Amino acid sequence: MNTATPRLSARGLVKRFGPTTALAGVDVDLADGESLAVMGPSGSGKSTLLHCLAGILLPDSGTVALDGREVGGLSDRERSLLRRRHYGFVFQFGQLLSELPAIENVALPAMLLGTPRREATDLAGRWLGSLGLAGMEGRRPGELSGGQAQRVAVARALITGPAVVFADEPTGALDQTTGHDVMRILTETTKAAGASLVVVTHDAQVADWCDRRIEVRDGLVRHAEAAR
Ligand SMILES: Nc1ncnc2c1ncn2[C@@H]1O[C@H](COP(=O)(O)OP(=O)(O)OP(=O)(O)O)[C@@H](O)[C@H]1O
Ligand SMILES: [Mg+2]
Repeated sequence: MNTATPRLSARGLVKRFGPTTALAGVDVDLADGESLAVMGPSGSGKSTLLHCLAGILLPDSGTVALDGREVGGLSDRERSLLRRRHYGFVFQFGQLLSELPAIENVALPAMLLGTPRREATDLAGRWLGSLGLAGMEGRRPGELSGGQAQRVAVARALITGPAVVFADEPTGALDQTTGHDVMRILTETTKAAGASLVVVTHDAQVADWCDRRIEVRDGLVRHAEAAR
């Protein structure tokens, strides 16, 4: 890792849910433009880590900083604004609004940040085209295949030019070939857009497409290795 301030930096993250310690003291650094795969068994704390890194959950102790600025002290409203402005999200499913056509699903995050509808819609159309979805702009999520819907989700995550994209098992509901397709699009497009990426995955091949991987076990990062 270079000596510049990390894009995202977490220190000593601890998160408990009642008697369960989901995170037991985790440090993570993510460089500008770097992609990081988070692996580990079910229940080990991967999603909790992603939610803490993204400011969705507040840790019980420890800090998270974006570009050297701590996010823990922000109000709920400030944190949700920070997520909207600086982060993109791709989840397993359910992030698309079922009643809106693909193009409006993609345009929405830009409109929420104040981009006029016409401009946001044009931009959304270009994103859909570049992800191989030209002609599908008017389809609602239920009229798309799982892989197509996830590509719409990738476009939606990237349209605002986020600093970091967070993806939790984005291919968990897809067959392996389609899943690999979506993951390649996610990693390549995120990299081309200059955003950093944190992706939770069970798939070692998916992790190979990332710059680096960590393994979470019992709420701790057990080892870190360069993927290449
Ligand atoms: N909201 C919650 N309330 C109570 N316990 C929770 C909550 N969220 C997570 N946990 C617990 O914290 C631990 C870590 O959960 P987490 O969802 O982070 O695991 P994970 O590694 O993402 O697992 P999976 O691969 O199954 O998605 C688990 O024991 C889980 O049951
Ligand atoms: Mg999980």
